[in-house]
Amino acid sequence: MTESSRALILERFGTLPRLVERPVPPRAPGETLVRVRAAQVGHLDLNVVDGRFGILPTLPFVPGTNACGTVVASDVHPIGSLVRLNGSGLGLRRDGGWAEHAVVPDKAAVPTPVGTDPAVACSFFSAAGAAWAAVHDVAAVREGERVIVTGAAGAVGSVAVQLAVRAGAEVIGVVGRPAKLAHVPAGAKAMLAGDLSKEALGGPADTLVDTVGGPVLAAALGLVRPGGRAALVGYSAGREFTVDLADFLLADVALLPVNLMTRGRDLAEVGERLLAEITSGDLSLNVERYRLDRVGEAVERLRSGAAVGKVALTVTPPSG
Ligand SMILES: NC(=O)c1ccc[n+]([C@@H]2O[C@H](COP(=O)([O-])OP(=O)(O)OC[C@H]3O[C@@H](n4cnc5c(N)ncnc54)[C@H](OP(=O)(O)O)[C@@H]3O)[C@@H](O)[C@H]2O)c1
Repeated sequence: MTESSRALILERFGTLPRLVERPVPPRAPGETLVRVRAAQVGHLDLNVVDGRFGILPTLPFVPGTNACGTVVASDVHPIGSLVRLNGSGLGLRRDGGWAEHAVVPDKAAVPTPVGTDPAVACSFFSAAGAAWAAVHDVAAVREGERVIVTGAAGAVGSVAVQLAVRAGAEVIGVVGRPAKLAHVPAGAKAMLAGDLSKEALGGPADTLVDTVGGPVLAAALGLVRPGGRAALVGYSAGREFTVDLADFLLADVALLPVNLMTRGRDLAEVGERLLAEITSGDLSLNVERYRLDRVGEAVERLRSGAAVGKVALTVTPPSG
């Protein structure tokens, strides 16, 4: 009898995927079949589900650009080993990880240390990798600098705060709602976006790491000193903002994009280190967890900005 497997299938952009039973997907040579343990629900996944991304799949389709699970069948990965799944069009051009089983090209499965929490393994990189790239490569935060991090209780923002504090910066962690003030990591001064001003900061900032975009970016840019840097990571609060070009030239702040897709390969080694630090507790990253049948709640938490840290679907238990 064919083994059946549950999967979230997207039938129409702009709707939620539907949980269905289907046969375990077949594997071809060069591919690895994985029993998924956890899968990330990320902003990129929401953009794909909404049909608002540059690369879109043919429907019906299983979303999920990042997942983690145990190998069921493979020519290269040991059976039973833990792997995280990402890249090679997973969740973009081919079925992704919001399912009990996923078939991926062998190279899209990355061996992951035994004992790693699958929900962390599938979700840490977009947060920690982007935070690392923003703080160290793009904003190039230096000791003694005053740094503003927006979305400071969010996934990227909370890790960016911790990395900037470690770099010896004076960090102001900005959040949009009072409930999140308590979730700004230790070492930073937590502030509400509405209270931001140069006076409240104690002077202009040297750098900005913005994970929120929209009007928050516009306001925070005005708090950076001439010659300072601003690293833009995301746009959850708005894809657009207007700028008066005369003011922009006068302000003389370099507004720089952070693109994890183009930088991901260079950050592979850093990523392994960051994962080990999260596992050991040296770096903290909160992950909210939801079962496959609660995908709607998971999506809503992320979409509304209410989530604290990453959001993941817990798909099957270790013995499943
Ligand atoms: N450039 C890259 O390569 C890259 C890599 C990873 C992530 N990203 C992007 O970076 C951004 C942050 O990612 P993340 O994983 O840290 O997300 P997150 O945990 O959801 O944090 C983003 C923060 O934005 C604010 N926010 C979210 N939704 C909002 C809404 N609808 N209206 C107003 N504010 C909202 C919230 O902060 P407050 O409640 O404090 O306002 C939230 O904590 C996302 O846009 C993501 O797509 C980009």
